[in-house]
Amino acid sequence: MRWLIGTVMIAAALALAPACSDDAVTPDPEPVLVTPPAFGEPYDKLSDWHLFADPLLQLPAERVVPYDVIAPLFSDYTSKWRFLFVPEGETVPYADEGTWEFPVGTVLVKTFAYADDVREPEGPRRILETRLLWREPEGWTAHTYIWNEEQSEAIREVGGRFVDVTFIDPLGATVETAYRVPNTNECADCHHQGEDEAGAIIVGPLGPKTLQLDRDADFGAGPVNQLDQLSSLGLFDGDPTPSSERERLVDPYDPAEDLSLRARSYFDANCSGCHRQGGSATDSDLELDFDSTDPTTSDAVVWGVCKTPTSAGGATCGNTYDIVPGEPDLSIVVCRMTATELDQRMPPLGSKIVHQEGLALMREWIESLPPASCTP
Ligand code: HEC
Ligand code: HEC
Repeated sequence: MRWLIGTVMIAAALALAPACSDDAVTPDPEPVLVTPPAFGEPYDKLSDWHLFADPLLQLPAERVVPYDVIAPLFSDYTSKWRFLFVPEGETVPYADEGTWEFPVGTVLVKTFAYADDVREPEGPRRILETRLLWREPEGWTAHTYIWNEEQSEAIREVGGRFVDVTFIDPLGATVETAYRVPNTNECADCHHQGEDEAGAIIVGPLGPKTLQLDRDADFGAGPVNQLDQLSSLGLFDGDPTPSSERERLVDPYDPAEDLSLRARSYFDANCSGCHRQGGSATDSDLELDFDSTDPTTSDAVVWGVCKTPTSAGGATCGNTYDIVPGEPDLSIVVCRMTATELDQRMPPLGSKIVHQEGLALMREWIESLPPASCTP
């Protein structure tokens, strides 16, 4: 994925560079400008938004800035591209904590694709869907556009769909599966921010926050810090906190990083959409966002240690506690990540394939926790 962001970054840097000079030898290609629809009337076709200079290559239009996260959500080995578009003249208040507050008119974009061989993400691939979060005056709305087989257009779909795909997984095995595009109610399960006075679900972004974006990316001139780059593009209304004072996630799969930080980063990306205060799994009382899993400030029962499940009907695989230190096989967290019945699997949405790398990390981390005997 790293090379991809590189390619895309170059395009974005070019697109955002001051336009034209008199002595240019070749004329600039006609710039592609985003053309948002009227609020409340999302287009049926992705192409009508003009978010991309080249949709197939995922080269962004003017002012559409690519970004990458430190700890991605696992989505059955799909590759992803992420972009943000903030309307001209608008800025984002810089914040160390929580997801950033974006102005009305912002469009956040995430495209999913399968590489034919996921070990070679730069090789042939099929784009599956492009998801949007659109900041309308009343709040964010979620939309997804499913790409046709010819890869020439993507059409908005609210009801979800299965798309048959074949790919080669990280171990070299050929996988045939039905990739699941979520319906738009399911977007709200993970992107749930609470409810309004009338009881309607409020959705919002999950990734764009300092914890997730404070990493290097290649904008065409070698790796630079994304926050510095966004700042120099004029995105923020103030200067970011100096790098040495910022808290950030770590790459969950980098064995050189601290194991506890790796596990917490994994939870934050893959579980905290629902398992956090105000999230859709609030009733489980299991909070897995980066702050709640901090062993120095948070009671371990909050993140599952010796915690009995509260959720009615919750599957337990015969185990008693969400996490038993030192005992992955006795921990409900592990068995729910591997459950074959999809209605018991965690996360319940967004992936069908058991995430072996995530599972290995969870096991290693639970084994490393100082033994404690859980007693009722
Ligand atoms: C299983 C939970 C889950 C579901 C279901 C889900 N998302 Fe997300 N989404 C996430 C997480 C976590 C991130 C941030 C991490 C990342 O980008 O890998 C994210 C990122 C995004 C982004 C990039 C901006 C952001 O918030 O980080 C967009 C746009 C988006 N999702 C739209 C949608 C839409 C539209 C749907 C429904 C069709 C949907 N999502 C369904 C969990 C989910
Ligand atoms: C799309 C929302 C969603 C996501 C994402 C999600 N969960 Fe859950 N989780 C739930 C809901 C809802 C419940 C309560 C109902 C149930 O037990 O099935 C729950 C319950 C649980 C329970 C039982 C907890 C208790 O004490 O009652 C565990 C353990 C769990 N989840 C672990 C995880 C882990 C680990 C992840 C990430 C790898 C994760 N979940 C991601 C929605 C989610």
